[in-house]
Amino acid sequence: MGLTVAVTGPTGEIGISAVTALDRDPVVDRIIGMARRPFDPAGQGWAKVEYRQGDITDRAAVDGLVAEADVVVHLAFIIMGTREESARVNLAGTRNVFEATVAAQRPRRLVYTSSVAAYGYHSDNPTPITEDVPPRGSPEHYYSEQKAACEKALQEIVDGSDLEVYVLRPCIVAGPKAPALAEVMPWNHLPGPVKRVTQMLPLLKPPLPDPGIPMQLVHHDDVASAIALAATTSAPAGAYNLAGDGVVSISEVATELGARPVRVPKVAATAASGLMARLPFIPSSLEWLHASRTSVVMDTTKAKTQLGWTPKYTGAETLSALGRSL
Ligand SMILES: NC(=O)c1ccc[n+]([C@@H]2O[C@H](COP(=O)([O-])OP(=O)(O)OC[C@H]3O[C@@H](n4cnc5c(N)ncnc54)[C@H](OP(=O)(O)O)[C@@H]3O)[C@@H](O)[C@H]2O)c1
Repeated sequence: MGLTVAVTGPTGEIGISAVTALDRDPVVDRIIGMARRPFDPAGQGWAKVEYRQGDITDRAAVDGLVAEADVVVHLAFIIMGTREESARVNLAGTRNVFEATVAAQRPRRLVYTSSVAAYGYHSDNPTPITEDVPPRGSPEHYYSEQKAACEKALQEIVDGSDLEVYVLRPCIVAGPKAPALAEVMPWNHLPGPVKRVTQMLPLLKPPLPDPGIPMQLVHHDDVASAIALAATTSAPAGAYNLAGDGVVSISEVATELGARPVRVPKVAATAASGLMARLPFIPSSLEWLHASRTSVVMDTTKAKTQLGWTPKYTGAETLSALGRSL
């Protein structure tokens, strides 16, 4: 008898690829996905997947989902949102998933996708950062703060239970089926004809400041393979960093995604972040600028040597794959 895997957020950028990987895994018999919007799993060509509409902030819906599962994969999250809405879903909803999984009889394993952002943007973070460094988060960035808070809540909630807990910490995920990195770039929202003209004339291309911070990227298929491994492996439970090999510069990202890179001193990014942190109110979307304040490059040795993860794409290959798909 194979595994039944419950997945929250199966329709997201990571979810589609993760469910595809689980659907192909011979150890998995059945997958039950849950998110809020209507979705037809047959459209993806999956063989083992059932989909139900449900909200992770509804404890009864979460109880019903996890009761049927051997493994719970928790992906549902609000990444781009306001502080208030994201806190409601990410903190209260994630707590529901963790508590329901501990309380249910059947699940023996929980896989949670945290993020590099859980470490926070601290100048005393080592480079590269390993899983031994505590995920402190950065309170001035709602997403980083919530990712760290979720990991803390997870530790408290599973303490004393015999649940096997795998925490995956991917860097920015990209690729043809994960275009969010390109979609957040404002010029990609210009009307079609205007965008085409800017792309033809290099000087009209929108500038993207590069303070010289190296970035890691990971391909959605590689995150998916890590999730499938975490759901099925006999490797030790624990936290695993996920990133494609190598780093890319913000200038390379700008060039690939249709902008004009402009080098700025690193001190400018640090000063802008420091100024924003002191302002009484800034829109939640601007809080993402804190992420360019300092480099958080992760060491992925543990995922490769202990989890048995072999990413197929480097960071540069992931960026090219995204660029080609636009
Ligand atoms: N993408 C990245 O670069 C990245 C990097 C590191 C870590 N991660 C983490 O990986 C996880 C998945 O990310 P993603 O990129 O796949 O996110 P995504 O594309 O934004 O998808 C989010 C998924 O969660 C569902 N969802 C949102 N709110 C929900 C709610 N209240 N109840 C039930 N389902 C809900 C969404 O469907 P509905 O809206 O229909 O409910 C969707 O299926 C998240 O925890 C994210 O923080 C992502």
